[in-house]
Amino acid sequence: MIKDNIYIEAFVFSPYAVNTYIVGDNKEVMIIDMPATKDDLMLIDKSIGGRTLSRIVYTHGHFDHIQGSDEAREHYKNIPQYIHKKDNIMFTDANENLTGYFGDPITYHSADFMFKGSGETFNIGSIKFEVMHTPGHSNGSVCYYTDGHLFTGDTLFYMGVGRTDFPHGDGNTIKNSIEKIFELPDETLFYPGHEKYGAMLGKRKSLGIM
Ligand SMILES: [Fe+2]
Repeated sequence: MIKDNIYIEAFVFSPYAVNTYIVGDNKEVMIIDMPATKDDLMLIDKSIGGRTLSRIVYTHGHFDHIQGSDEAREHYKNIPQYIHKKDNIMFTDANENLTGYFGDPITYHSADFMFKGSGETFNIGSIKFEVMHTPGHSNGSVCYYTDGHLFTGDTLFYMGVGRTDFPHGDGNTIKNSIEKIFELPDETLFYPGHEKYGAMLGKRKSLGIM
């Protein structure tokens, strides 16, 4: 859908029901998180339509969010992939991406570019996004923010927050991250890595942090 000049289409992929977002304007888009299989990529292609896909970005490096990264690399040749520097190790270390932890170790190609920390910005078409470093679910968890819209990965869900019982998870750290998110305007619509998306942050705030 196009709303206030931003194009956002959501897909739910994989047995882990990961939300993948195609986001941008009428000319250019990015993909947020890539759990897609080859067949799923056809749906993404349809969503991209005549727009230019300029990058794939990740909210964090747990396997359920990156497991289509190599298929995407093959399908979208030369489209760079971005992740926060603290989660890049999850592409190349099966214990870090949790596939080893769950007993079926898999590694992937490293990201092409890494975000260094908070406050970096980039443009997709006419839309400017800010990278907010929001650790707690993982060290390199980030949210992508543009006026009115926030993509929260597994940091903030409509019902609850991301798990902090995996390696590098930390309850106090995620609490700090969510407090930072809650400073954004109440009217901001937010789009998590799983479950319900498109709700207002103000409504979520009223439910409390945890
Ligand atoms: Fe996760």
